[in-house]
Amino acid sequence: MEVKTSLLDNMIGVGDMVLLEPLSEDSFLENLKKRFDHNEIYTYIGSVVISMNPYRSLPIYSPEKVEEYRNRNFYELSPHIYALADEAYRSLRDQDKDQCILITGESGAGKTEASKLVMSYVAAVCGKGQEVNKVKEQLLQSNPVLEAFGNAKTVRNDNSSRFGKYMDIEFDFKGDPLGGVISNYLLEKSRVVKQPRGERNFHIFYQLLSGASDDTLKKLKLYRDFSKYNYLSLDSAVVNGLDDATSFRTVKNAMQIVGFMEDEIRSVLELVAAVLKLGNIEFKPESRCNDTDESRVRDKNDLKEMCELLGIEQTVLERAFSYRTVEAKLEKVSTTLNVAQAYYARDALAKNLYSRLFSWLVTRINESIKAQTKSRHKVMGVLDIYGFEIFEDNSFEQFIINYCNEKLQQIFIELTLREEQEEYIREGIEWTNIEYFNNAVICDLIENNQNGIMAMLDEECLRPGTVTDETFLDKLNTVCAEHQHFESRLSKNSKFLNDHSLPHSCFRIQHYAGKVLYCVEGFVDKNNDLLYRDLSQAMFKANHSLIKELFPEGNPSKVNLKRPPTAGYQFKSSVGTLMKNLQTKNPNYIRCIKPNDKKAAHIFTPSLVCHQVRYLGLMENVRVRRAGYAFRQPYGPCLERYKMLCKRTWPHWRGPAREGVEVLMADLQVPTEEFSYGRSKIFIRNPRTLFFLEERRRQCLQDLATLIQKIYRGWKCRTHFLLMKKSQVVVAAWYRRYAQQKKYQRIKSATTVVQSYARGWQARKLLRELKHQKRCEEAVTTIAAYWHGTQVRREYRKFFRANAGKKIYNFTIQRIMQKYFLGVKRGLPCMSPVDKNWPARPYRFLDAAHAQLRSIFHLWRCKKYRSQFSEERKAVYQEKLEASELFKDKKSLYPSSVSQPFKGDYLEISKNPKYQKLSNCVEEKVLLADVVNKINRANGKGTSRILLLTKKNVVLADQKTGQVKASVALPDLISVSVSTQNDGFFALKLKEGSASAVKGDFLLSSEHLIETITKLHHIGSTASDDGEQLDINISDEFLVQFKQDKVCVKFIQAATKNGNSASCKRKNNRLLEVSVPAATA
Ligand SMILES: Nc1ncnc2c1ncn2[C@@H]1O[C@H](COP(=O)(O)OP(=O)(O)OP(=O)(O)O)[C@@H](O)[C@H]1O
Ligand SMILES: [Mg+2]
Repeated sequence: MEVKTSLLDNMIGVGDMVLLEPLSEDSFLENLKKRFDHNEIYTYIGSVVISMNPYRSLPIYSPEKVEEYRNRNFYELSPHIYALADEAYRSLRDQDKDQCILITGESGAGKTEASKLVMSYVAAVCGKGQEVNKVKEQLLQSNPVLEAFGNAKTVRNDNSSRFGKYMDIEFDFKGDPLGGVISNYLLEKSRVVKQPRGERNFHIFYQLLSGASDDTLKKLKLYRDFSKYNYLSLDSAVVNGLDDATSFRTVKNAMQIVGFMEDEIRSVLELVAAVLKLGNIEFKPESRCNDTDESRVRDKNDLKEMCELLGIEQTVLERAFSYRTVEAKLEKVSTTLNVAQAYYARDALAKNLYSRLFSWLVTRINESIKAQTKSRHKVMGVLDIYGFEIFEDNSFEQFIINYCNEKLQQIFIELTLREEQEEYIREGIEWTNIEYFNNAVICDLIENNQNGIMAMLDEECLRPGTVTDETFLDKLNTVCAEHQHFESRLSKNSKFLNDHSLPHSCFRIQHYAGKVLYCVEGFVDKNNDLLYRDLSQAMFKANHSLIKELFPEGNPSKVNLKRPPTAGYQFKSSVGTLMKNLQTKNPNYIRCIKPNDKKAAHIFTPSLVCHQVRYLGLMENVRVRRAGYAFRQPYGPCLERYKMLCKRTWPHWRGPAREGVEVLMADLQVPTEEFSYGRSKIFIRNPRTLFFLEERRRQCLQDLATLIQKIYRGWKCRTHFLLMKKSQVVVAAWYRRYAQQKKYQRIKSATTVVQSYARGWQARKLLRELKHQKRCEEAVTTIAAYWHGTQVRREYRKFFRANAGKKIYNFTIQRIMQKYFLGVKRGLPCMSPVDKNWPARPYRFLDAAHAQLRSIFHLWRCKKYRSQFSEERKAVYQEKLEASELFKDKKSLYPSSVSQPFKGDYLEISKNPKYQKLSNCVEEKVLLADVVNKINRANGKGTSRILLLTKKNVVLADQKTGQVKASVALPDLISVSVSTQNDGFFALKLKEGSASAVKGDFLLSSEHLIETITKLHHIGSTASDDGEQLDINISDEFLVQFKQDKVCVKFIQAATKNGNSASCKRKNNRLLEVSVPAATA
């Protein structure tokens, strides 16, 4: 049997008290102390965890620790609260068993801390996810809220739970938290109005005043100073290690996480503030005529502020503090309250306000954390109830608290001691009975319906007549006097008559955890828990939704004249329900022990611990465990769980379950002393045997898992293979089909190609033929068309083209001409006849016309020019014209004459007196008078003569004398000869036989030859009767008749002696040579 790690390894003392040897109270305490000194605060008694309060934080709650304990066997590691939490969680998750974790111990032993550790462990190991985490967070954050409102500092514990709390955490089938339900049990509300010395009020009051912002306090009309409030005790207002301000922020934050709305938080704080204000309201007596005192509010300021806070009408509340209305059936009687009653009413209101607010908080938290699904939940209940407590003054609250602890002890005894032992007997297991103290008798003393203390109290409260705490004590003295756990000075039981530790107004109960002296004062009132109806109605009228909700009985329309159940009755029944609830679940115990009374670390007070060990019945617990069996299980489930460990029972056992288990145990060779067969269960003595079975099972499960895995994998592979094979066939079929299809398509397309080529060839052939045919047809058509065209053109040419061409041509020409003429018109040169300018011709074909036009224009402009002339000028130009006609291009002298004006009378013959005589000789008008040289025929030398020309004659006269030397009638003149050259020689040829011709022809030289000859020619032609013209002979050789001889006058070009003028020389008889200088250009 091999266990890898164990609580036995590295053990300090013994981790499980069952293993303690020898077992005695001393060794038990010794073991606890030893472990405590080594920071081992947890020790087992079987499956029960003993927890010692270390009063300091130990490094044993880290996330690594959580992981260490996660999914491990209970006995595998050293004792820890996590092992218990893990065990509970796993059997809830895996075996579907609802669990409850019962945490017991006296006040300050560490129950609340333990419950929080359990919850945080479960939260850490269970499932994760956004929704799950939210649920976890809300469940965990409900603690700070409830602790702030329900915990207070007491002499025993700085954070003492003043209410009982049972929380059901609900899980789904996977073990993920779904939500939770919190039940609260009787809050110690008397603390609101009065706290014992050394204690203080509920944390929230101090937290609010320390932690709230100035602004919040102002709104709540509060001061930060605790001393301003009557309800807050001052002697221990500040607790070491508690930071109220930080806690306030934590609480507010927790409220937000849990799901409180902002206005809900505000309302809650307003109520807390209202309670504080209420405590400050004081009363004064006011005498009445009938000698009674009536109470009046002393200083109305606090009342006013409180009413403003809660929206209550001040007068209504004020009246409720002075009067009380009692309704009975149809009657309504109003009585006045004296000052004491007023204070009572005030405190009752404060207590009620606070306790109802607390219950509302629990309901509100439940609303937030309740599971959303309606499916069946697995439940883990965590019970953290106020611990057993003994104070100096113990009252109704302690009585209730201790009663509750009695009940829990009962359950522990029931399930661990009595039940277990009874089970051995029932199962027929050999068993020597172990004695233990059964506190059922104490429970009976308190809760018995006939003569129990609670029943007596209720009876007193309901009884008509005067009821006081004393009458109640009297009643107890009579009814419970005989009870061995009840002690009272005045009871019939005379043995207490002289017990001075037992005052007259008290009774004492011997609880399982010790004797507690209860003072009866206040029992009746607290049990009645009466709140005057006027007050509840005043509260209901408040303009504050939360207050209204807290006092539903104040609604006048729902007046209930029935008395409400007493506090004791309510508590008893709720505890009864709780016990029943716990019994349906698998219990897990955490027994908390406080090591000292000083709340100090490292101090182990043996007497204190011993006392707790005793009353918790731990020794008996160990004895029962040691004598008994660690584990039991009905045969059926046992066989079911371990049948895989034996071939004969696996997989099915056909016979009875017990026989199967026997076969199994025999097969596993478990020593017979390690187990016993009961009637319906097998009992296993040592946990190690169970570990052995579990370990074998775990291995077997692994093997089975491997087998299942193997088969599954084989199956999976085969299925996969078959599927692949099937797929392969399908794929192959598809592929073949595809390949064939491809082949077919190839052949088909090849065929189509061949076919298309053949068809193409055929088609092309056909096309060629058709094209040829078409071309032939087209050719024929074209020829025909051309032929027709020709015909038609031939026929219609005359109408169209020829004419059109001509017309277009004419038009074009016209246009061109028009343009041309307009151009010429625009570009005409000036009117001067000598202007040579003429616009360039635009087209070559217009050459002739252009030239023609130019000449026409010129002629026209000449004509125009001429038309301006006078008759004289006209005659001059006519002469010039004549000269031109005669000599132009014939005689070289001509050009030089053009510019010379034909003056005619060079000698001014009529005016010159020298020639007067000569002028007179001439009858006609002298047309020309000039000096000429008459060439001597003999030598060729010249003699100056005056030549006169009239219309009828040519007269030669001596230049000096003016004597006429010769006069030739013009008709006798037949020709004039001149040379072609640049000389002034001319010969006048005379008609032979005429009178003038006696001396022969005249050879003359004149400077104005051209003028002279022209005039001569002109006159000659006009003078001639027969119209014969004077002959002008132009030649370089001509004959001159000198008297008898004919002499040839020859003109040559040669240089002359006298420069530019020509010279004449007689060469011989027949020749007269005239040398003419070459004309200069
Ligand atoms: N496991 C622990 N580790 C460290 N400190 C602890 C532990 N358990 C308890 N304490 C200390 O002891 C104090 C009292 O513990 P707790 O409030 O749990 O007592 P209780 O049993 O709930 O008392 P009451 O019955 O008055 O509510 C705690 O405030 C804490 O300081
Ligand atoms: Mg507590």
